[in-house]
Order: sequence, then C-alpha cells, then structure tokens
Amino acid sequence: MSRLLTRRAALIIAAPAVLTLSRAALAACDPRPTPAETAGPYYKAGAPERQMLVGHEGGKRLVLSGQVTGADCRPVPGALLDFWQADEAGRYDNQGWALRGWQRADGEGRFRLETVVPGLYPGRTRHLHVKVGRPDGPRMTTQLYFPDEPGNRRDGLFRPELLMRVADARDGKEASFDFMLSP
Ligand SMILES: [Fe+2]
Repeated sequence: MSRLLTRRAALIIAAPAVLTLSRAALAACDPRPTPAETAGPYYKAGAPERQMLVGHEGGKRLVLSGQVTGADCRPVPGALLDFWQADEAGRYDNQGWALRGWQRADGEGRFRLETVVPGLYPGRTRHLHVKVGRPDGPRMTTQLYFPDEPGNRRDGLFRPELLMRVADARDGKEASFDFMLSP
C-alpha cells in the first residue's frame, strides 16, 4: 500500500515536470523554414540513388551531413534529398549522372552526402543544388553556400541563411546543414 502510494506520489510530482519540459522544448522550436531558390538550368530528374557522388574524380573531398525537420522542429523520417552540382572545374555533367544523386534520410531525418567541393563557373559563387521534401509531399528546391567565399558578395542568389557550416577535415572539408521544410 505504501509502495503504491509512493509510486502515485512520484507520478503526481513528475507529471508537471514532464509537461514543463515538453512546453520548453516546443518553445525552443524556432520555425525558420529553409528558403527556396531556383533550380537553375542543370537539374535532371532520374539521378541514381546514392549517398556517394564521387569515385576517383579529382577535387577536394566534401562530406555534408545534416537533418531534415518540419516547421514543428520534428525530424522528417525518410525525407528525400536530390543533390546535383558542378565538378571541381565548374562543369555540370549534362550527358551522364556524375555528381548527381538522390537519397533517403534515415528514421531521424539525417542524411550524409559524400562528394567534392564544387568548382566555380562564371556568374555564380560556389554552391550545391538540392531538392528536398517529405517522402509523400512536394519537394522544395534550394542551393547551399560556402562561408568565406569572395563570390558570395557578388552573387544575387546568395543568402546567408543557406550557408553551410564548413570545417577542414583530414582529407578535405566537412560540412553540415539542417533543412527545415515549410508547413
Ligand atoms: Fe549551379
């Protein structure tokens, strides 16, 4: 009897604490959906499913990872991400599928892309292209940018909200970016 009472008492004491916690977690959610940008002229539907876009091509290795969430800050399990980009010389593969690939995020909306740092081409700063969305919903199109690029200031499409966090790694660059989908 006394043990039961103790357990009940513990539940009564714990319940408001749990409520407070979830309210705090909700309050911490800052819904700032990732801005959309133009796909540009080089997107091709039908890329192979793969996380690794590179084999033995030249260029500095780039690993990008992150998470896809909804505007409620909850992860989007199985979110779809379709990446495409220029090679180290600033060229897109418009005949084949080099540096193009789509992937499904894991059960917590996490993804990882292994690629190379894209090169520059006239008129643009350094960037990656991506379409991202819920497995059963529309996809938004956007671009990701690199910090400390002189071209960022001159590129009309550049937006600071689309900057990746980029650090030097042992064999290239390690980057991260979290996508938030619009409601
Ligand atoms: Fe581009």
